Amino acid sequence: MAGRLQGKVALITGTGGGQGRAAAQLFAAEGATVVGCDLKVEGAEETVQMVRDAGGTMTSAQPLDLGKYEDVKEWVDSAASEHGGIDILYNNAAGAVFNSIKKMSEEEWHRILRNELDLVFYACRAAWPHLAAGGPSAIVNTASMQGIISIRSAPGGFAHAATKHGVIGMTRELASEGGPDGIRVNSISPGLIITPATEWMKDLPGAIESCLEHQIIQRAGEPEDIARAALFLASDEAAFITGENLVVDGGFTVV
Ligand SMILES: NC(=O)c1ccc[n+]([C@@H]2O[C@H](COP(=O)([O-])OP(=O)(O)OC[C@H]3O[C@@H](n4cnc5c(N)ncnc54)[C@H](O)[C@@H]3O)[C@@H](O)[C@H]2O)c1
Repeated sequence: MAGRLQGKVALITGTGGGQGRAAAQLFAAEGATVVGCDLKVEGAEETVQMVRDAGGTMTSAQPLDLGKYEDVKEWVDSAASEHGGIDILYNNAAGAVFNSIKKMSEEEWHRILRNELDLVFYACRAAWPHLAAGGPSAIVNTASMQGIISIRSAPGGFAHAATKHGVIGMTRELASEGGPDGIRVNSISPGLIITPATEWMKDLPGAIESCLEHQIIQRAGEPEDIARAALFLASDEAAFITGENLVVDGGFTVV
């Protein structure tokens, strides 16, 4: 039986661990040729090995800083030339920083914009001509439930919220632009997902429990929960869905 992404070329950012690794494994298991990248060399190489050990096809560029447009463009163009085009761009990578307005410097603010918003724009811009040339194609961006609501148990998130609101807004507008080019653009807003970025919460007594108080489903999310949502949005099963923000948060934001 053909996989759900059989014959597709999928670029995934931030495959060095967490949700990006889970997506690389799942997309490859569903037949995609996966092209990953990360700042982290060891983690990114481990992911490639894991995918290949499972019989999948994956290459990856590391270290790659997605905050440098020329490097992003080279990664995208070389993937398109090696594989004859691009069908899917999954913008997973981001680096969140939390700080209060009283303490945040201008330098830190701009670093957060770079590492959470610029990198989505850069990858979309670089991939757009390739996605448009192949059509029908898909972009999946990663926002957050903090792009929808304020989370009082995670203070200092105002800059992170600004970028993730930005991702959701950018997704809607790009969906409009993408219509005539055959590019669907959607985002996913994860809730609490245990990944290398959030593992510290397991050691802080009460941290996960305070999050679960707001959730309907009484467990922390796993990277695979998000990878499955990304797989759906990236696949032709979502052919009539664009401009949507799929919230995957165990019911945290349900009021
Ligand atoms: N974990 C959660 O609870 C949670 C909740 C909401 C949203 N998110 C979002 O989900 C996405 C994935 O997060 P995660 O939890 O898997 O994080 P993670 O830190 O485990 O993985 C992100 C990966 O992206 C890479 N990366 C970051 N900046 C990069 C850059 N400039 N260039 C190249 N690679 C870069 C990191 O090295 C890392 O391997 C992010 O967009 C994050 O904001 C996560």
